[in-house]
Amino acid sequence: MKRWSLPAAAPAVAAIVFLLSTTAIRLAAAAAVEHTFVVSKMNMTHLCKETLVSVVNGQLPGPAIEVTEGDSVTVHVVNKSPDNITIHWHGVKQRLNCWADGVPMITQLPILPNHNFTYRFDVAGQEGTLWWHAHVSCLRATLHGALIIRPRDGAGSYPFPKPHREIPIVIGEWWAKDLAQVARNMSHNLFADYSSASTINGKLGDLFNCSGAVEDGYVLDVEPGKTYLLRVINAALFSEYYLKIARHKFTVVAADANYVTPYTTDVIAIAPGETVDALLVADAPPGRYYMVALPNQAPLPDTQTPEYSTRGMVQYSNDHNSGNGAAALRSSRSAEEEEEDGGPSGDVPVAPEMPDKHDTITSFYFHSNLTSLRHRRRSQVPARVDESFFITLGLGSICRRGYPACKRSGNNESLLVATMNNVSFQLPAVTTPLLEAHYYHTNAEDTLQVLPAKPPRVFNFTDRTLIAFGPKEGHLEPTSKVTMARRFRHGTVVEVVFQSTGLMQGDSNPMHLHGHDMFVLAQGLGNYDAAKDVARYNLVNPLVKNTVLVPNLGWLALRFVADNPGVWFMHCHYEFHLSMGMAAVFVVEDGPTLDTSLPPPPVDFPTCGHDNNQLHNEFYLATEKTEVLGINEV
Ligand code: C2O
Repeated sequence: MKRWSLPAAAPAVAAIVFLLSTTAIRLAAAAAVEHTFVVSKMNMTHLCKETLVSVVNGQLPGPAIEVTEGDSVTVHVVNKSPDNITIHWHGVKQRLNCWADGVPMITQLPILPNHNFTYRFDVAGQEGTLWWHAHVSCLRATLHGALIIRPRDGAGSYPFPKPHREIPIVIGEWWAKDLAQVARNMSHNLFADYSSASTINGKLGDLFNCSGAVEDGYVLDVEPGKTYLLRVINAALFSEYYLKIARHKFTVVAADANYVTPYTTDVIAIAPGETVDALLVADAPPGRYYMVALPNQAPLPDTQTPEYSTRGMVQYSNDHNSGNGAAALRSSRSAEEEEEDGGPSGDVPVAPEMPDKHDTITSFYFHSNLTSLRHRRRSQVPARVDESFFITLGLGSICRRGYPACKRSGNNESLLVATMNNVSFQLPAVTTPLLEAHYYHTNAEDTLQVLPAKPPRVFNFTDRTLIAFGPKEGHLEPTSKVTMARRFRHGTVVEVVFQSTGLMQGDSNPMHLHGHDMFVLAQGLGNYDAAKDVARYNLVNPLVKNTVLVPNLGWLALRFVADNPGVWFMHCHYEFHLSMGMAAVFVVEDGPTLDTSLPPPPVDFPTCGHDNNQLHNEFYLATEKTEVLGINEV
């Protein structure tokens, strides 16, 4: 089995395998972490309704993978579900290992029902919280879990006080629906499906009940005075969330597995795809405090969709029978505090005051206040720029097949699509994944079209009146649908300014790039204006992220170095935007040397005919028979 980037010491210990390891055993040398993920359908009942959901190893959220920086990870995926699956290791840089990135038809063939696939990758040069998820449209709503990377020298070498315990907080959604059907509906331009609840660590919480039966909530037991590291992940399909715990503050210490300058706040804003590591000190009077996750959404005239807050609880350990704790809590609360919390305390846990669900500025401040920590792992932002892009993000329409000149603005003759620079992405109509075609230099790449470096027209991008259908947006609406990509010479420094527009919606856009981290130089509200905004670039300690949240009716400027050869997906992490085509492919060419070039696929990697793998015929035929659940079949 071929390994490309194992540290020199690794082979000696590669035999040390932790099967389904959940214990925090740490070794000085790199270890091999091995998991088996059995994907299957399981019945779960919430809100009086039984729903068949896809899960890994019967768990929701799925199993957490815990590693030490430098470890190599092997995950055997056994697909016992009726859907095609791939697993993406969100945020793992996959240096020289694009083959393990897990994007169907871009880096690999999907894993068909009753087939297996083994992912092998090293986790190097990153510390903090990442996550994994199915990269198959809506199925990721239940197929996901944490990926926790601890420093090689142990938790003692965190650049912050060593926490007493570490707690994953996975924010998600409960869908009382068949998500494969939801995905098909989205791919047919039907967007009337909504989740039924939000969840914290898979639990709906006591804001949800049916026929009087209250849903279980997530409970975090804390000891007074102790510090906890919350590893917060937004695994939801649709919304950014605000997370608060009554009477407590967070100190944010990392985001997307990069350390940040400690930032104290009472609210965390986290968009789909993002992760936030935050310290929580149990320094409130012993008692019970609600932890609330509230999904935000752009205000009217944007379409308002049903979205729900969820809550769990932080419970002090000496408060189990609530008597003493509640008394302590009562005696410590002032009248104004009683007022603020909405009434007398008694045994009622204290609830935080949440931002308004239409408040988008709190997220803007949260995101713009983060900077990277001066740390041995911190990479330097490149000063030079080789290629620049200005990419507008919005909606548009294309004519349905058979309607060459169609009526638009929501008419049935046209399809609503999501775009970058007025082009909407569609998966290539090929049977060979793009990475394989790229590696073997077939002409499949000829089907790709170039992602434009700027939008076709300049207009007032953030004009609110464009949000509602009308004559003004009408002439901006026509767009096209192609497989768009951009090739970069190895080592190219790319600068991208993303501009969220008001075209038929005023959403924010969490843009995720596979295989690379990005330096966030600046962000702002309204239209980007190079003449004044370049001066605001942070070239000293910019935040480093794999998912950047481009604010509602605002912009964000970033740089990244295209130095990881392969074919990398770049897309919005809102599932509806992705399914509507807000995506592109970045092809990074090989560098001049062996260790800057993409190695051949692993020996057991099923390909479409560029090796003599026995599997290939079987896979090829099965692909023809089975529907490939693409991201946007039109
Ligand atoms: Cu978290 Cu392309 O994905």
